[in-house]
Amino acid sequence: MTATTMTTTNVPGIRVKGRTDPARARAALARPAAFGQTLADLMVRVAHDEARGWHGAVITRLAPLSLSPAAKVLHYSQEIFEGHKAYAWPDGQVALFRPELNARRLNDSARAVGLPEVPVPLQLEAAERLVDLLRCWVPAAPDASLYLRPAIIGTDPSLGVGPSREHLYFVIASPVGPYFSDGAIAIQVEEERPRAVPGGLGAAKTGGNYAAGLAAQQDALARGYDQVLFLDARRRRYVEELNAMNVFVVEGERTLVTPPLGGTILPGITRRSILELAGELGLRAVERPLPVEDLVAGLASGEVSEIFAAGTAAVITSVGTLGYRGQRRLVGDGGAGPVAARLREAITGVQYGRTPDTHGWMRVVRSAGEVEPALVNAVG
Ligand SMILES: Cc1ncc(COP(=O)(O)O)c(C=O)c1O
Repeated sequence: MTATTMTTTNVPGIRVKGRTDPARARAALARPAAFGQTLADLMVRVAHDEARGWHGAVITRLAPLSLSPAAKVLHYSQEIFEGHKAYAWPDGQVALFRPELNARRLNDSARAVGLPEVPVPLQLEAAERLVDLLRCWVPAAPDASLYLRPAIIGTDPSLGVGPSREHLYFVIASPVGPYFSDGAIAIQVEEERPRAVPGGLGAAKTGGNYAAGLAAQQDALARGYDQVLFLDARRRRYVEELNAMNVFVVEGERTLVTPPLGGTILPGITRRSILELAGELGLRAVERPLPVEDLVAGLASGEVSEIFAAGTAAVITSVGTLGYRGQRRLVGDGGAGPVAARLREAITGVQYGRTPDTHGWMRVVRSAGEVEPALVNAVG
């Protein structure tokens, strides 16, 4: 084994100990399943402890994890995750969308729950090597992609409440199609159960936040809605976000409004990309608090012409119906809105290699031969 000293700046090589089965990939891509139900057959694993830091980086066949039932993650939710995608381009290349932002956000989330950061170069290398080996799993169908799910968990097998001293970083992958099957979704405003609190973990991508939203989501689903729109915890008045997406409102024809980040909202990468693109599309983007009653009044007066959700999984999805205090209100004509459609085309055009990447957002996945040898098989 080549010695590699792990520090936060030192990137270990990633050993490859398994091969994908292309027949299995072909079969999986031939019958698209619900989001995240089909997993590709390789995964990345990297272990961490205090003495060795991150070590033993390896890509293996997908397999269940072996964890003590006392592992901290199972009791105290010491876990964080990310979500980003690899896209098949018409010229045969495969590219990742802004993966360094996901890597940095994973580390922001890690700090928020006392987990160790994974060096950004190691995260990028893990994503690139995994996708390179899983090229046959990247779907070429419209609106489809290979979704990557990196995560860090506390694996320490002891029940005392405290931060874990042993950890696992892993990355799994799933070929996915559109998150929502219809053009526009119905969302229900949740007034009783906030998702995140000031000073809490709302800005981190940690499982507990999602657990906090699941009962409200269950109710919304039972009433025929697709998603929940959460309000701020203190006043129960200001619009925050959905359970896996940020929210935007279109006022008039050209003004985009989204709630400001203040620690209770996930700083979405799609959200950020929309704010960066808006000017180029002749839109004015504003980050300001959005009282729910103003939103409802704006729908009634016609001042609010569109609402849409933005996130990696759903890209940009129009909201066709808003449920508030037991009443369903149509947004516009209830279908996909024109501003959402333009933004969606602008972002997906870059993601799928149809339009030039003038912002330098895409990272083309190199094949192993093109990668610096020091980064491949240096550990083992
Ligand atoms: C709670 C929440 N808000 C917003 C988003 C959108 O973030 P992004 O655009 O980075 O996917 C996500 C998904 O990651 C999320 O889970």
